[in-house]
Amino acid sequence: MTESAIQSEKSVAQLRCIGCGTVALADRFRCEHCRDLLEIIYPGWEERGPAGLDAASLKQLWLDRRVSANLVDQSGVWRFREILPEISQQQIITIREGNTPLYSLPHCAKSAGVQNLFAKHQGMNPTGSFKDTGMTVAASFARQAGYKWVACASTGNTSASMAAYAARGGLHSLVLIPDGKISWSKLSQSLDYGAITCQLKTDFDGCVRVLNEVVERMPVYLLNSVNPYRVEGQKTAAFELLEQLAWEPPDHIIVPGGNLANSSAIGKALREMKQLGFISRLPKISVIQAEGANPLVRTIRENGGEKLIPVQADTMATAIRIGNPASWKKALRVIRETGGAVEQVSEVEIAMAKAEIGAEGIGCEPASAVTLAGLKKLVKQGFVKPGEMVVLVLTGHALKDADFTLKFHRGDLFTGTPHEAESAVLKPLQRSPLVLEPSVDAVVELLRSAEN
Ligand code: F0G
Repeated sequence: MTESAIQSEKSVAQLRCIGCGTVALADRFRCEHCRDLLEIIYPGWEERGPAGLDAASLKQLWLDRRVSANLVDQSGVWRFREILPEISQQQIITIREGNTPLYSLPHCAKSAGVQNLFAKHQGMNPTGSFKDTGMTVAASFARQAGYKWVACASTGNTSASMAAYAARGGLHSLVLIPDGKISWSKLSQSLDYGAITCQLKTDFDGCVRVLNEVVERMPVYLLNSVNPYRVEGQKTAAFELLEQLAWEPPDHIIVPGGNLANSSAIGKALREMKQLGFISRLPKISVIQAEGANPLVRTIRENGGEKLIPVQADTMATAIRIGNPASWKKALRVIRETGGAVEQVSEVEIAMAKAEIGAEGIGCEPASAVTLAGLKKLVKQGFVKPGEMVVLVLTGHALKDADFTLKFHRGDLFTGTPHEAESAVLKPLQRSPLVLEPSVDAVVELLRSAEN
């Protein structure tokens, strides 16, 4: 099929409320009737499939695009454009996001007690986090819809990503971040890419509250993860993962949980893949939170998922320092539908898992490491069996929070915190920098002692 024939077969996307099913206008975020979140659906798929193509033809088309010279095909998001809302190619803002590696983690596998462990490293995106895959779609939609301003509240990665895509697309951007509670590298990215960056004297949840009112008053397009176009872009990580696995689903996919959009996106992708005949069974999707930022864990354990229990969030994994997650209902549906689990992990468990992933020569930021820490618990509980294949979704690059890593290796990450005593177990993983005289003998001596 030619590209123009594919274009004319494109199925039209609709926004629909996840609660009452009411169809909404294309640039809304919540249902007018019940205020629940919206999701994108593709009514045409039932009869004709995406762009009128079947699963086998789409698999081939997407593979062929990997060697295309067209910039839009080179994006690991837009090469899957048949399963995304339609955006005209001239409006697409791409920094060649997606196409991220799938790594094996043999040492982490051993430490967790499984044989087959992989990491889908979304930190290998252009701004260093998974946010780019959603941002390319939502920022492109904003430009196509004629918005001049975009905005987000963020724990640092969304803001870095939004600032970059806005700059590339000629849009102005406004960032609201919690004062003092995000990593310096993330803050520096948003400044460098030219966003108006405001540090509010509150936490992430407070930033969201302020921004929600700002967008009511001003013609500013909201790029937080309640934005359904971001969820669509983030779906492509799962399509790409399955392509990398020759469309054979793993047994488990483990995702960090913050505002809970990414787990929702990956779940939506898998649901669609099954519906469209790409795969015949669903992997179990499990969500891991930090103990200090565990609203979903508490909600499921304490009231069976009836009503969200917000918490006052606190964790050194600042990316997921979120107490009132917007997409909790979507994530809950994914966990239930796939038979996944929720688990929480301590600060020390996160630090250990992060060091273990780093020692594989891969690395990630602390929020991503909750996946390995959570896996260890799920194996101990018997939920994950040693012979099952597991994929961890690593969401952010190691350089996103170099401060955390340095403090860890110098041994002062937990100094003066309630976790100090417990953190003694981290000693064997710490490698603090050695200060030596500038002499050959001193270095040779050191190498000899290291060999023994
Ligand atoms: N991992 C990283 C590195 C993140 O930055 C985030 C969220 C998550 C995991 C959680 O993903 O919210 O979809 O459940 N960061 C947001 C931000 C909130 O503003 O950058 P989620």
